[in-house]
Amino acid sequence: MRTTRRPSWLRPGRHVLVTGGSSGLGLELCRRFVARGVSVTIVARDRDRLSACADELTRLACDGASVATVSVDVAVPDSVERAVTGIARIRPLDGVVTSAGIMREGRVGDLSLADYSDVLDINVLGTIAVIRAALPHLPRPGGLVVPIASVAGLTGVYGYTAYCAAKHAIVGFADALRYEVEPDGIGVQLVCPGEFDSPFVDALDKTRTPENRAHTLTIPKLPAGRIADSVIASMDRGGSRRVVPGTMTQLIVLGQHLAPAAGRFVGRRKIAAVQNAMPAPP
Ligand SMILES: NC(=O)c1ccc[n+]([C@@H]2O[C@H](COP(=O)([O-])OP(=O)(O)OC[C@H]3O[C@@H](n4cnc5c(N)ncnc54)[C@H](OP(=O)(O)O)[C@@H]3O)[C@@H](O)[C@H]2O)c1
Repeated sequence: MRTTRRPSWLRPGRHVLVTGGSSGLGLELCRRFVARGVSVTIVARDRDRLSACADELTRLACDGASVATVSVDVAVPDSVERAVTGIARIRPLDGVVTSAGIMREGRVGDLSLADYSDVLDINVLGTIAVIRAALPHLPRPGGLVVPIASVAGLTGVYGYTAYCAAKHAIVGFADALRYEVEPDGIGVQLVCPGEFDSPFVDALDKTRTPENRAHTLTIPKLPAGRIADSVIASMDRGGSRRVVPGTMTQLIVLGQHLAPAAGRFVGRRKIAAVQNAMPAPP
């Protein structure tokens, strides 16, 4: 019997809006999109970095893929609405990937309320504003929404009270959104990576608490390209799912889900080991 293969969702002619596409995971994804003939529009703030990315991606582009960039702060809702409507008017949108995000790490009393506000405004409201603005422009059926959350959206991590609050919010948003958009044929692929190499982590490494470093690295760090490959494989298939890149990361997430008390016990031991090795205050 002959079986008909479903065509890849990522195919020449598609157009994907990528927030945070000028760095880290977003940029890795854009490299793969344009190499597959998928057009991208990147949203980020820094114009110089956007222009350097546009040059690089245009050189990589195949099969008529186009590259456009728009400088927008996703934490400013009116600008987001205007920008997304303008982007969709120029070229119909097929999908949206929200990778724009920031990090503030520290003990709860060491983070200011302004830190919490920045993290929640950019990582949560920025993500929601972009997806909300893009949804009316996505094809039904066939549209794809890909929010980049984190393993920190599925569990607690030392030093991440702001970041975990934000990423848990994105997990909840995506899980609730599915009920509204799946009946129309729009897929929601929620991506929850563990730590991967990126400028975001380079900056974090300069200031992070030793406890955060030890606790976070319970899950092995992966190259950004490995995370991007998992996201691409999932987008290729279309539809809805939760994507946790890396077998070890999946096993640890599953273990924490099935036995949360054991997960907390392991975390507390790692944190205590670091604290016990610290010099006593004078
Ligand atoms: N790196 C990790 O270990 C890790 C692990 C799990 C999840 N994640 C998540 O993965 C996503 C990408 O992380 P990454 O490591 O690739 O970060 P990255 O290299 O720092 O890139 C962040 C991107 O977001 C953009 N951005 C930040 N604030 C913005 C704003 N207000 N408006 C518009 N664009 C903004 C940045 O450009 P501009 O600064 O020019 O605006 C940049 O393009 C984030 O959501 C992060 O939380 C990262």
